[in-house]
Amino acid sequence: MDKLKQRCLSCHACPLASTRTNVVFGVGPVPSSIVFVGEGPGQNEDLQGEPFVGAAGQLLDDMLSIIDLSRKNCYIANIVKCRPPHNRDPLPEEQDACIGYLNEQLAILQPKIIVCLGRIAAQRLIHPEFRITREHGSWTEKDGIYYTAFYHPSALLRDVSKRPDAFADLLILRNKALELKLI
Ligand code: URA
Repeated sequence: MDKLKQRCLSCHACPLASTRTNVVFGVGPVPSSIVFVGEGPGQNEDLQGEPFVGAAGQLLDDMLSIIDLSRKNCYIANIVKCRPPHNRDPLPEEQDACIGYLNEQLAILQPKIIVCLGRIAAQRLIHPEFRITREHGSWTEKDGIYYTAFYHPSALLRDVSKRPDAFADLLILRNKALELKLI
């Protein structure tokens, strides 16, 4: 993983490299049976080089703690490793340029569960038409890995009416992790 990280830190495969402060590679133990994947770094993440460290990250940490998860016992990464300007969605070509790093991370991590945080990650990793409102908290099994998606923590900051559903999704994740004897 360290070698992969070193390669990623010097990547110039897309134009996001020219506006980044830091590459945001990912954090957590290797291997990890549960992996969370967001869309891409925001301003705080770009400045600190770590995923989900801003307000949305604080909420993610709080959510994880409800089911005894943390950065110490699961891995957190993003679809793109460099911040898109003004926090816009990463473009398909930026995702294409970067997804190889995530695929290599996942090959090393060997997760049993992948939780997509928000629509962008879900459309990339689960299926291209994924509708977060309709399909959050549902499971898709591919090649022995269980995939689900949560509302993005930023969406939960903006719209508190989604939080009861987000809480239910946490319990769905906990039940799957128990069923798979991961916790
Ligand atoms: N939003 C994301 O999708 N990823 C981060 O790392 C931070 C905010």
